[in-house]
Amino acid sequence: MSPDRITAALLVAATAHSGLVSASTLHNNPRASHDLDLRALPDSPSGGYAPKVVTCPSTAPTVRSAASGLSQNETAFLNRRRAATLQPMADFISRTNISGFDAQSYINSYASNVSALPNIAIAVSGGGYRALMNGAGFLAAADNRTAGSTDDGGIGGLLQASTYVAGLSGGGWLVGSIYNNNFSSVEAIMANTGIWQFQNSIFEGPDDGVIGVLDTAEYWDNVYDQVGEKSDAGFDTTITDYWGRALSYQLINAPDGGPAYTWSSIGLDADLIAGNIPMPFLVADGRNPGEQIVSLNATNYELGPWEMGTWDPTVYGFVPMQYVGSNFSDGSITSGGSCVEGFDQSGFVMGTSSTLFNQFLLTNLSTVANVPSVVVNALDDLLKAISENEEDIALWVPNSFNGYNPTGNSPVANTTQLSLVDGGEDLQNIPLNPLQQPERAVDVIFAVDSSADTTYNWPNGTALRATYDRSQSAIANNTLFPPVPDANTFINLGLNARPAFFGCDVSNFTLAAGQAIPPLVVYMPNAPYTAFSNVSTFDPSYSLDQRNSIITNGLNAATQGNATLDADWPACVACAALSRSLTRTGTTVPSTCTTCFTRYCWNGTLDTTDNGAYEPEAIIGNVSATSDSSSRGTMSGLEAERQMMAVKVMVGFVAVFAFSGLMA
Ligand SMILES: *[C@@H]1O[C@H](CO)[C@@H](O)[C@H](O)[C@H]1NC(C)=O
Ligand SMILES: *[C@@H]1O[C@H](CO)[C@@H](O)[C@H](O)[C@H]1NC(C)=O
Ligand SMILES: *[C@@H]1O[C@H](CO)[C@@H](O)[C@H](O)[C@H]1NC(C)=O
Ligand SMILES: *[C@@H]1O[C@H](CO)[C@@H](O)[C@H](O)[C@H]1NC(C)=O
Ligand SMILES: *[C@@H]1O[C@H](CO)[C@@H](O)[C@H](O)[C@H]1NC(C)=O
Ligand SMILES: *[C@@H]1O[C@H](CO)[C@@H](O)[C@H](O)[C@H]1NC(C)=O
Ligand SMILES: *[C@@H]1O[C@H](CO)[C@@H](O)[C@H](O)[C@H]1NC(C)=O
Ligand SMILES: *[C@@H]1O[C@H](CO)[C@@H](O)[C@H](O)[C@H]1NC(C)=O
Ligand SMILES: *[C@@H]1O[C@H](CO)[C@@H](O)[C@H](O)[C@H]1NC(C)=O
Ligand SMILES: *[C@@H]1O[C@H](CO)[C@@H](O)[C@H](O)[C@H]1NC(C)=O
Ligand SMILES: *[C@@H]1O[C@H](CO)[C@@H](O)[C@H](O)[C@H]1NC(C)=O
Repeated sequence: MSPDRITAALLVAATAHSGLVSASTLHNNPRASHDLDLRALPDSPSGGYAPKVVTCPSTAPTVRSAASGLSQNETAFLNRRRAATLQPMADFISRTNISGFDAQSYINSYASNVSALPNIAIAVSGGGYRALMNGAGFLAAADNRTAGSTDDGGIGGLLQASTYVAGLSGGGWLVGSIYNNNFSSVEAIMANTGIWQFQNSIFEGPDDGVIGVLDTAEYWDNVYDQVGEKSDAGFDTTITDYWGRALSYQLINAPDGGPAYTWSSIGLDADLIAGNIPMPFLVADGRNPGEQIVSLNATNYELGPWEMGTWDPTVYGFVPMQYVGSNFSDGSITSGGSCVEGFDQSGFVMGTSSTLFNQFLLTNLSTVANVPSVVVNALDDLLKAISENEEDIALWVPNSFNGYNPTGNSPVANTTQLSLVDGGEDLQNIPLNPLQQPERAVDVIFAVDSSADTTYNWPNGTALRATYDRSQSAIANNTLFPPVPDANTFINLGLNARPAFFGCDVSNFTLAAGQAIPPLVVYMPNAPYTAFSNVSTFDPSYSLDQRNSIITNGLNAATQGNATLDADWPACVACAALSRSLTRTGTTVPSTCTTCFTRYCWNGTLDTTDNGAYEPEAIIGNVSATSDSSSRGTMSGLEAERQMMAVKVMVGFVAVFAFSGLMA
């Protein structure tokens, strides 16, 4: 750890313990600090948004081959985390009363060999604020800190029993927000007035009740200055930098959206290192030089607390997140070179996973009152550059994988530029990639899908299908995924209107050399339980009532209306978690679980008839009014989408965005 990082850590620790020094003192910022604890640290050595050149540590950072398996940091984390999940897992499973199954003694009998026991992951899809809110409902239900979550009918404790949590695009805003705010519960964040104030359009900026309105001009001036600092430090910037900064004001509870917060600082957190909380990932896709269509063959990058990189047999390597931004060549710091820290700024990482929204920012900003012309002009300049330089991306320059080509297949081995785009652009809108890697041996993925695949913004399994299709190709490097059916089958069998399990039957997988049984996937689609949660991906603001009703809808999906739709649902969640473990230990499947699997596992049946537009009705009823959503904000969602399409045609990206599933 550099001295600067240690100083920042100590200052934050002092803040937490004395309660006297406020986090804002770190940057001498006049804006009021808020009361949520911070987990990530404002440890960028520049003290602001800019990366900074630093002396390399005595052991200079290097790019690590994926052939060496998991990183040492992750392995050390897992040793502690897997052990720490056992009691919460026993408690959670016991609460669901699986008849004839003693969860505590099952777990006790394998406690000395945790690899026999369930390894649980949660994945939250993209889909803008809709995905953030619906995903938040799932996490709230799974979190034993949420009031009522461990009562009968609840699934609280599932989060405490999980090893990994991954987010993509809008789901990445959720995961990033939670980890940048000390793993605060969704409930605590909702009660806080500093963040998730979605009634204030992201284009207009926050309304700080303490010192009065931070006006739109000041907000954008700040963003402009922050991005300018990065540019002045010699680093390329794109619209992603602006978008990531704007997001941060809504997601990171620190003055000015925490410009010095780094993603790698999450990896310095004592609670993460101690295994007290799950390990987070965001994901992004690589866009090859000169390429405009992001296909399923795009390299999938994971952005973790310790490393960023990929298991794909193209690049097949990982760089330490803390030192991204340094000049690497063939995996090492160029000779005589210095290191760079602070490139992995948290907002930039969240923006990288969600570059789909770059255009959203461009189209809207010119229509918002009081945005300083200097900001509009700066974005205009970037827009003009797009057709030439393809700057509608997140630029991770210098490219850490320059010259690194152990497989002979790297599309970025000879480029100075690493271009990353929204993780959903290859249609894999659920961040399954890090979780399906055999090295991680995940048993079950709770896959929360808030994609807008259909006309009315509901999911139809497109994201899962994309990952299944990719698993059939060489790019997946022998990583299997459960078969999933076509979109019509999803709709006709109701697989997108209730939870559905895929890959239940391990005997259905034929393993070739080097292959492993993939995780069971518990698909949790966004559906109208108690709210029409199918708000447009491109709504820039939501009233707090609407925010809360969509989060509650997600909670009702996760709990099946607190088990009112199926009294066995919490037990079925526990059965899904246990399934692979029961197989490994040769334990008889309890009859409650057999019933659950009959009810929720897709059994291979197809019904491919096209029955027209999918327009579901409320599942529980008492539906809260969210229908006014599309008229909120600076323009209606549909209007925004139309304008975005127009811009994309203009800049020649129409092919990329031609898939309806991408409006996700
Ligand atoms: C973060 O939360 C943990 C657990 O709730 C708490 O012990 C710790 O003091 C908090 N850390 C900071 C920096 O506020
Ligand atoms: C939640 O689970 C953790 C881990 O088992 C436990 O320490 C904590 O007491 C639980 N909290 C609540 C509110 O039940
Ligand atoms: C641990 O559990 C795994 C999976 O059930 C099994 O293959 C392995 O033999 C066990 N190891 C020991 C030491 O019992
Ligand atoms: C589980 O069993 C306990 C004790 O019999 C009971 O109090 C509780 O309501 C049951 N919970 C569920 C979810 O059925
Ligand atoms: C994954 O790709 C790498 C690089 O091509 C290769 O060495 C490795 O054997 C592959 N792994 C599997 C399981 O196929
Ligand atoms: C990285 O390389 C570029 C281009 O040669 C150079 O301008 C820059 O100063 C280098 N950065 C560091 C930290 O060495
Ligand atoms: C939400 O879905 C309902 C049907 O399920 C549809 O009538 C409504 O128009 C949709 N709203 C949006 C914003 O797509
Ligand atoms: C993806 O790569 C495979 C070879 O691994 C190739 O057959 C296929 O055409 C590629 N697909 C696209 C869309 O580039
Ligand atoms: C389920 O319980 C939560 C509180 O724990 C509540 O907000 C929600 O409305 C309940 N759902 C239903 C369908 O009653
Ligand atoms: C498979 O599922 C379909 C509906 O989802 C059901 O109609 C059929 O009976 C099931 N088949 C078997 C063999 O269970
Ligand atoms: C079983 O595997 C076959 C072949 O991959 C596949 O077509 C089928 O859909 C699978 N069945 C289930 C229930 O996953």
